[in-house]
Amino acid sequence: MATDFAPDLLADHHIVVTGGGTGLGRAMALRFAALGAAVTINGRRPEPLAETVSDIEEAGGIAEGIQCNVRDHEAVQAFLEEAEDRRGPVTRLVNNAAANFLAPTEDISPNGFDAIVKTNLYGSFYCTQACGQRWLERGTEGAVLSIATTYAETGSAYVVPSAMSKAGIVAMTRSLAAEWGREGIRLNAIAPGPFPTEGAWDRLVPDDELEQKMRERIPVRRFGEPEELATLASFLLSDLSAFMNGEVVTFDGGEALAAGGQFNTFTRMPREQVKALMQQMRPD
Ligand code: HXC
Repeated sequence: MATDFAPDLLADHHIVVTGGGTGLGRAMALRFAALGAAVTINGRRPEPLAETVSDIEEAGGIAEGIQCNVRDHEAVQAFLEEAEDRRGPVTRLVNNAAANFLAPTEDISPNGFDAIVKTNLYGSFYCTQACGQRWLERGTEGAVLSIATTYAETGSAYVVPSAMSKAGIVAMTRSLAAEWGREGIRLNAIAPGPFPTEGAWDRLVPDDELEQKMRERIPVRRFGEPEELATLASFLLSDLSAFMNGEVVTFDGGEALAAGGQFNTFTRMPREQVKALMQQMRPD
């Protein structure tokens, strides 16, 4: 995939990517390392961490993998200490770790709700606060990028705990952009549409027919590629976006807008048919 970034765009940075062993987190970690950053990834399972670290190292990059469940405040503190012992001060944070499943809301148990909200919302807060505390204490600049979702703004049926927690992440991003901006700390977010990663697809896409329907909702008629998201994330963590603060960048091929426009159903018909219909409606 073409990117015109300088190969040292992220050199001198130590970037933490939560949930960095798989999916979008892995794609970002690989790219940040390729752009010169030291990357520390965390996650609950050691195997994906080890595999991603080894892939980064094979490509000549610097990476560490440390087991950590972001739902646990003490574990997050211990993780950051360990990360800094190994690779020096963390300069950038990506809140990527997420949990989700499709469920009728009336059937979700308290544990199910907790599993999602604690991973997404609490985990992002714990990591962001811990990094912010360090940066404020040291008087150094910093940047946080959080992975939200387009339905943080609109809400979505059948993923209510996810929608609630992602909306909270957006609120955190905007609030802290104002609170910490003066101290040189920027916070931004990406609101992705559907990206076919294993973690998301296994839980959110029941079968091929629904996958096809999901694709047809997207004006560009395809899903996103994790590498494309990694490109945007690299820009948002770098000084190229130094004036961007508190922004939520929608990255969905136009899906969310297309779902909202009243007359967008016409875009699903062949263009010649639409033209003929509209011609008929013109006054003589
Ligand atoms: C209802 C469910 C459920 C389901 C689990 N639970 N799956 N309830 N429907 N499909 C309930 C369990 O019964 C249990 O409650 C509680 O949730 C915790 O489940 P555990 O398996 O014990 O916990 P845990 O191992 O922590 O699993 C958490 C998880 C799991 C969220 C359920 O899916 C997970 O680990 N996910 C992490 C990765 C992930 O979700 N990636 C996708 C993110 S994609 P009880 O009451 O029985 O004890 C994303 C993208 C959004 O967010 C945009 C997409 C287009």
